[in-house]
Amino acid sequence: MTKIKIVYASLTGTNQHVANYLKEKLSAVGASVTASEMSQTAAASLADVDIAIVTSYTNDNELPEEALAFYEELQDLELPRLRFAVCGTGDTAYPQFCTAVDLFESAFLGTGALPAARSVKLDATAGKVDLAVLDPLIARLTIVITTPR
Ligand SMILES: Cc1cc2nc3c(=O)[nH]c(=O)nc-3n(C[C@H](O)[C@H](O)[C@H](O)COP(=O)(O)O)c2cc1C
Repeated sequence: MTKIKIVYASLTGTNQHVANYLKEKLSAVGASVTASEMSQTAAASLADVDIAIVTSYTNDNELPEEALAFYEELQDLELPRLRFAVCGTGDTAYPQFCTAVDLFESAFLGTGALPAARSVKLDATAGKVDLAVLDPLIARLTIVITTPR
């Protein structure tokens, strides 16, 4: 069974909502999925799973405080057997949209991990997100989960 770990950074609950949605959808296609809050998660734990998914908000064009330890640890890891996907929510009223998604994508690529799906930036400007925007990511991951290795 494909093991997936979802790690989220969420201040007001939107990215936690995204994490729970992904957990529900990917469990339904047969993966073993866990979700945990980023400040409570060691990046080294990603070495034990097949696919890592990070979803984070952005704070003034930077990573949120609660993401920093995980991000810094991630940058020091080598994870060549890992596949990853990154998403995150942001607000287009800010000059830079969803910076955290770009930062995590670069950090994962630096570990040697392979992208399993294209990164997704969700627009939370209206205070809620359209979860259907995640459909292509879920479709890609479903192929990875259901294709025999
Ligand atoms: C002080 C502050 C700064 C923010 N800066 C940015 C930003 O630079 N870029 C962006 O896309 N969103 C920015 N946002 C919007 C949040 O990333 C967005 O509301 C996100 O959906 C919150 O996710 P959460 O509910 O999981 O905490 C900012 C929000 C606050 C309150």
